[in-house]
Amino acid sequence: MKGIILAGGTGTRLHPATLVVSKQLLAVGDKPMLYYPLSTLMLAGIRDILLISTPRDLPQFKRLLGDGSELGLSIGYAEQDAPRGIADAFRVGASHVGDDSVALILGDNIFHGPGFSDVLHGNAQDVEGCVLFGYPVNDPERYGIGETDGRGRLVSLEEKPDRPRSNRAVTGLYFYDNEVVDIAKNLSPSPRGELEITDVNRHYLERDRARLVDLGRGFAWLDTGTPASLLEAGQYVHMLEERQGVRIACIEEVALRMGFIGAQECHRLGERMSGSEYGRYVMEVSEEFAPQGGQTGTAAATDW
Ligand code: DAU
Repeated sequence: MKGIILAGGTGTRLHPATLVVSKQLLAVGDKPMLYYPLSTLMLAGIRDILLISTPRDLPQFKRLLGDGSELGLSIGYAEQDAPRGIADAFRVGASHVGDDSVALILGDNIFHGPGFSDVLHGNAQDVEGCVLFGYPVNDPERYGIGETDGRGRLVSLEEKPDRPRSNRAVTGLYFYDNEVVDIAKNLSPSPRGELEITDVNRHYLERDRARLVDLGRGFAWLDTGTPASLLEAGQYVHMLEERQGVRIACIEEVALRMGFIGAQECHRLGERMSGSEYGRYVMEVSEEFAPQGGQTGTAAATDW
């Protein structure tokens, strides 16, 4: 399965913080926002990733992540020169997807919760149609909203409805089979002029090929759309990290635990940032992980 991170847009609701910097590069807690969606794809086992952003911001993302090889990934980059809509990701990224299935994640979506790795893994295998992830919210009119038949089959879908039929938001993480490339190619812009991801999902829904997996209670799907919600997301991350002594979305640790890189490589990545607590954490994790009597850690060793 290929991965796409869509990290464009203008970030107008966060001006002036985003006047010269991409929203997805702003810090959430102690790390760039982008680390969160990137680690989500990595936890799904995805290593071949395309990052789509604006011509202005793409160079910064490249400076941050390079070709991904240090994390055992392959990261490519593509420009979206205007915000034509989320589904435009499959036009811009068509050659990256090739004949494969694909996971799309919005660069401002932060997920955290127990067993997330298993949920991702379980649903990333042999995707037929599409798999969406639902989350209960108290302001459903702000999101794509879905309803299921009780067995996870999606039966209705609306984008930012005035009168929502449910409180199940469709989050910004989507798994598709390869047909999505053709569906996006044939899509027409909506009245607001965008290629809507909800129209793609409706295409699958109408053919009875869409599932909505619930991310239930105890799970966090954090908003980063406004200065207040961005601050709250950072506080949430900080609070959990301080309390538990583990880090959320530490991409070096995820790469290590997923077996994408070894302990030595991970340690070197930490050394470069040894002036920060984050860097020292990366070094500690790799030291603990280093084989002792043949024992190595695994992704399952940590409750993601
Ligand atoms: O976050 C989940 C929601 O994301 C879903 O519930 C909605 O169904 C979906 O339409 C979307 O709603 P938003 O109102 O959050 O979409 P927005 O236009 O703000 O775009 C989300 C992110 O994607 C944003 O960080 C910018 C980026 N983006 C967006 C567009 C339209 C791009 O990079 N390029 C684009 O063309």
